[in-house]
Amino acid sequence: MSVQTSDIDEGIAGDFAARLLRWYDASARVLPWRIAPGSASVPDPYRVWLAEVMLQQTTVAAVAGYFARFTERWPTVAHLAAADDADVMAAWAGLGYYARARNLLACARAVVAEHGGCFPDSETALRALPGIGDYTAASVAAIAFGQPAVVVDANIERVMARHRLIETPLPLAKREIRAALAPLVPPDRPGDFAQALMDLGATICTPRSPACAICPLLADCRARGRPDIERLPVKPPKKAKPHRHGLAHWIERDAQIWLVRRPGKGMLG
Ligand code: ADE
Repeated sequence: MSVQTSDIDEGIAGDFAARLLRWYDASARVLPWRIAPGSASVPDPYRVWLAEVMLQQTTVAAVAGYFARFTERWPTVAHLAAADDADVMAAWAGLGYYARARNLLACARAVVAEHGGCFPDSETALRALPGIGDYTAASVAAIAFGQPAVVVDANIERVMARHRLIETPLPLAKREIRAALAPLVPPDRPGDFAQALMDLGATICTPRSPACAICPLLADCRARGRPDIERLPVKPPKKAKPHRHGLAHWIERDAQIWLVRRPGKGMLG
């Protein structure tokens, strides 16, 4: 019997989330900003937001120590809002992209000044806060507040591009990935669903040598068995890197180096 594409689509919509969540219930990574699946407690939006900002362009392993130090020193958004800029910058040192640390502080202060110290729960209101873009608004809305937001990060892109065999190169593929994902988000567990896809992408549907044999989504994965599965998602052609030449000067006096702090905006702010 041949299987029609529409049958596969129905199958995907029917139990994709159920299979994924069953796997997540048994295999979720234990992470300090998470509550365990099925737990009676609710996630702390401050911790969820802080983790999501820290995790942009960085790995879970790199973030863990920073997250622990930040939450010990500034346990609530009000504590962070009241912190000295220089202390937060120093605590952020090593995570890179200092504009994110400046936005982190600006966001904490806006949450206190404009929302009485409570993060708003809608994607739209979250997106209006400093440093919160589409991804962070969706992930905080889903994970912290149970809103049925469509969360797409690099891990989720990879899982969906493979599961649906999306051959369009990134970043164009993002629209297709989002359209494929939106109808699958379960209204009762959108945060766990997003985090389950993240975990699946990080531990099973990995960029190299994915562990397809133990994947809960294998049955209807359209990239199943393909020798070129690692090619997905298709990356955009690499841009030629420009060569730049520069000169560096420094002043030494009395065994000290004189430094000037760069402006916050512009190159290496
Ligand atoms: N990467 C970004 N956000 C994450 C989360 N909530 N859990 C695991 N990995 C993530």
